[in-house]
Amino acid sequence: MFPGFACWDRKGFLAALALIISISVSRGAPVDFNREVRPILSEHCYACHGPDEGKRKAGLRLDREEEGFKELKSGERALVSGDLEKSALVKRITTSDQDDIMPPVKHGKPLSREQINTLTRWVKEGAKWQKHWAFVAPVRPELPKVSDDTWPKNGIDYFVEEKLQKAGVKPNSEAEKTALIRRASFDLTGLPPTIEEVDAFLADGSDSAYEKVVDRLLSSPHYGERMAQNWLDLARYADTSGYHFDGVRFMWLWRDWVINSLTTTSLSTNSLSNNSRAIYCRIPHVTNASRPDSFATT
Ligand code: HEC
Repeated sequence: MFPGFACWDRKGFLAALALIISISVSRGAPVDFNREVRPILSEHCYACHGPDEGKRKAGLRLDREEEGFKELKSGERALVSGDLEKSALVKRITTSDQDDIMPPVKHGKPLSREQINTLTRWVKEGAKWQKHWAFVAPVRPELPKVSDDTWPKNGIDYFVEEKLQKAGVKPNSEAEKTALIRRASFDLTGLPPTIEEVDAFLADGSDSAYEKVVDRLLSSPHYGERMAQNWLDLARYADTSGYHFDGVRFMWLWRDWVINSLTTTSLSTNSLSNNSRAIYCRIPHVTNASRPDSFATT
């Protein structure tokens, strides 16, 4: 097919690679360090270029901005803003030399072509670092463009619809009221609705019927219990001392403190409760679209 293909030399290969990269570099929104780059470095590089000094190779650490740009013992710099040729990082992830490629072949965690493109685009765009997202003040983002702007009812919906479109999924129509109250009750309190609560919801024909249910659930003491459950599970909370003799135990004081904090937070009119209300009031759309019906009934 391509008679010259077998005799492609290294130069030809590099030229082709540069072309592929320059095409992909010129496309799309700028790379987001926290969302796209940090996870790749963390998964594929930190084992040898991360915080663990004992395992660090070539004196290079890629978990700190200033370290990534400094001159290494070899005289190279892993990162040079906007300069693909001078950045050792780019050379090492795009090279065809199996002795130089990063991560090393025997490490067994090669980068995908997409990941290589992301890192390369990031360097080309200036290798901009971001603080860990937990320390970055949130900024209101632009609403994404969506093809059906009759579906979204508020800002969050635009983001949901954008993701659904990317996944090739269409939102279902809104579920039956009985399904909605059942889901909301289990999600927010871990308990099913009572018959009276279902009847009251069915009888409420107002536009804000669902919001009223959500408000009621958010101010239920069981909301605090339900939210505390995940928290306590993560912290490996147990009501027993485990192997030890279960004499007088005081851990429940902390359990109750967690539950109370979450309950009183939800009762107050602070921004957390307003946010959880705003977010929760949109969830039926999300769950409808992303759960097959068989899940929705559980
Ligand atoms: C299993 C360990 C290991 C992992 C994982 C690893 N490296 Fe390396 N890296 C090394 C070793 C060893 C060297 C020094 C030997 C060499 O230069 O090939 C090195 C050298 C480098 C250098 C050259 C430093 C200099 O002084 O010139 C760069 C740049 C680099 N790695 C980038 C990366 C990137 C980017 C990743 C992740 C995509 C990565 N490495 C993952 C072990 C690793």
